[in-house]
Amino acid sequence: MTTRRNFVRGLAGASIALPVMREDAFGQLFKANAIAGDRSAAALAEEEPYWSQIQRAFDIDRTMINLNNGGCSPAPTHVLEQMIRDTHFVNELPVENMWRTLEPRMESTRRDLARDFGVDPEEIAVVRNATEANEIVIFGMNLKAGDEVISTNQNYPRMTTSWQQRVRRDGIVFKEISFKVPPPSDAYLVDQFRKAITPRTKVIEVTHITNLTGQIMPVRDIVRMARPLGIEVLVDGAHAFNHFPFKRDDLECDYYGVSLHKWTLAPIGSGFLYVRKAKIPEIWSLQGSDDSLKDNIRKFEQIGTHPQPIYNAVSTALAFSRGIGADKKIARLRFLRDRWANRLLAASDRVKVLTPLGPDKSGAICLFNVEGLDQGKLGGWLSSKYHIVTTPMAHPEFSGIRITPNVYTTLDEIDTFSDAVLKAIKTGIA
Ligand SMILES: Cc1ncc(COP(=O)(O)O)c(C=O)c1O
Repeated sequence: MTTRRNFVRGLAGASIALPVMREDAFGQLFKANAIAGDRSAAALAEEEPYWSQIQRAFDIDRTMINLNNGGCSPAPTHVLEQMIRDTHFVNELPVENMWRTLEPRMESTRRDLARDFGVDPEEIAVVRNATEANEIVIFGMNLKAGDEVISTNQNYPRMTTSWQQRVRRDGIVFKEISFKVPPPSDAYLVDQFRKAITPRTKVIEVTHITNLTGQIMPVRDIVRMARPLGIEVLVDGAHAFNHFPFKRDDLECDYYGVSLHKWTLAPIGSGFLYVRKAKIPEIWSLQGSDDSLKDNIRKFEQIGTHPQPIYNAVSTALAFSRGIGADKKIARLRFLRDRWANRLLAASDRVKVLTPLGPDKSGAICLFNVEGLDQGKLGGWLSSKYHIVTTPMAHPEFSGIRITPNVYTTLDEIDTFSDAVLKAIKTGIA
């Protein structure tokens, strides 16, 4: 039986530097953990008494059903509270409280992130989001006219526009490969990249989980194929970190960018960039940095005055995620996904799911469409009639509605969504 003391000690042991917070901040997690007992992650995925405790850790507006947690996610209340407390503290005497007291504590956040990603803290830059992380690498790599970069036509648009700016400015070549949704196999995906490689290829950019269908890409296979050819691989991990369990060594990559306001449940405006130590001197910082920082990961953090409380609250968010456990979290997210997707698939052959369901090719993010319905209009109808937030997606090769629950999503919310779609299929959305 888990005792409160054991549980809190377990959290402290899991973290090199336990963030400062009141013990009652762990209250909901403690109650959930006591309910969990020794049950497996799979068994617990369907255990509502456990997840209802997790749901209570969030103060969110339940008058809307939020099934777009891919954009960004609410933070648990005690994470937000830490940020607000620190913001008040900063405001009392900014130059002293922010620069002298809070900024040095970012080293704890760096250590906590490094521990969870399985790397050295000297390889982690704390940044504002995945856009900043990825753009540091995109604009910081030494590339010359004619050098080729390969990505996909399902790349996140902001990353693509950054590469395209380098095309206009530096004369590099940016190639976008296409792949089927869902893809037939990992080997097929690796092959799509391989076929586009030429002697001039210098970089591959791959999204760890695509934002369109939630496909988990075979990152390690792509890195293993590219590295012997001298090709760098940038991994856009915006959606992957803390969504499902993995470490850097499972990917073997050299560059990895993350948004922490998605699956880490940290305050909005937080992310990290991982750069393998040996590669740090080769990447220019996006904002100018002193030459003495050439091989120091902190050269990527020289952004001027910024809201430090956001970064420091990341440690509290990491402690919350560890309190649930990565295996329990992904088991629940896949359970929620399967609950609505399998129900819609069973009810109508007009429903198509473009995300591979199953244990390891996707997580919470899942794209479906209904034959004969305009997907954009269906999204609008779900919002106006049922107050359900979804994400209609239009790609030149496919379209659909992206559904993304989170750990605070209730079964009732999932079922209300499924009921509404089934009604649309039966009686239309006019
Ligand atoms: C795959 C992917 N990469 C990058 C980003 C950019 O994230 P942010 O806006 O937090 O920088 C997103 C945002 O949704 C994304 O889905």
